[in-house]
Amino acid sequence: MAEKNQLDTQSIITFPNDDWRAKTGAISSAVEELEQGKILFFPHLGYPLNTQQQSLLDPALVDPKRKNISYDVGRHQIKGVANSEKEPQVRKLLEDYYQACSALIDTVLPEYQSVLRRPVNSLRLHPVSEWRNKSSWRKDDSRLHVDAFPSRPNYGERILRIFTNINPHGEDRVWRIGEPFPQLAERYLPKLAGFSPFKSWLQHKLHITKTPRSHYDHLMLQMHDKMKSDDNYQKNGQQITQRFPPGSSWICFSDQTPHAAMSGQFMLEQTFLLSVKDMHNPDASPLRTLQRITNKRLL
Ligand SMILES: [Fe+2]
Repeated sequence: MAEKNQLDTQSIITFPNDDWRAKTGAISSAVEELEQGKILFFPHLGYPLNTQQQSLLDPALVDPKRKNISYDVGRHQIKGVANSEKEPQVRKLLEDYYQACSALIDTVLPEYQSVLRRPVNSLRLHPVSEWRNKSSWRKDDSRLHVDAFPSRPNYGERILRIFTNINPHGEDRVWRIGEPFPQLAERYLPKLAGFSPFKSWLQHKLHITKTPRSHYDHLMLQMHDKMKSDDNYQKNGQQITQRFPPGSSWICFSDQTPHAAMSGQFMLEQTFLLSVKDMHNPDASPLRTLQRITNKRLL
């Protein structure tokens, strides 16, 4: 129990901000805390919707073939809206949410202001329980995991995510949050299969991956799978439960902080990519951590 309480105080940093654009509420150590794998939690930072936007909170608005509605900010491309009449409204909501997130970054993480890349965001309308019931264990995000994607190798690039609970019925988004990344890596690295450059080349040729998987991507994906398939770790691994109420937001590096979505419905999510070299402390990245432990270059 003491161990779990310790994880609690170590893994969540709370901020008083209640305005996306106000230049107050910044904590100078935010970037360091975030890069250590902590979650920056803003219990008073909601994203209020007007009446017209509230009407978009309907799972039937998501294309049945997709999990969420997603918006590529740079390309102005929206995917997954089942009703084309509603598309302009959804697009406006996601564009505005991106602008709000950018303003928040300027205040809380000013060092990242000019180096975050490739903004994409999503409107998540399904209850967590719905896709959990339909998924295989590998896709089940209610199992503790770090984000790594089978078809999209990212060569160590960081995945920064901002989340906002927009549930209109008072329902919390509930996460489990796991141990610090270095501890996680020490636990799983001995159990991971070796990297095969030939297999990586072949998977690319067969269009299983968009670019060849690097040694780093191989390890991250293996770790993602091993964590999710390890029932003992899921049950007994070091973890805390954190509730994110409606009207709150939180930020984390989802490639570093073990997380599991347990319940909730209706969320906005903004993703940015960040090069390791553009971090305040690149040594805290999963890439450098894995390089240190394995004593290999991995890229
Ligand atoms: Fe995830």
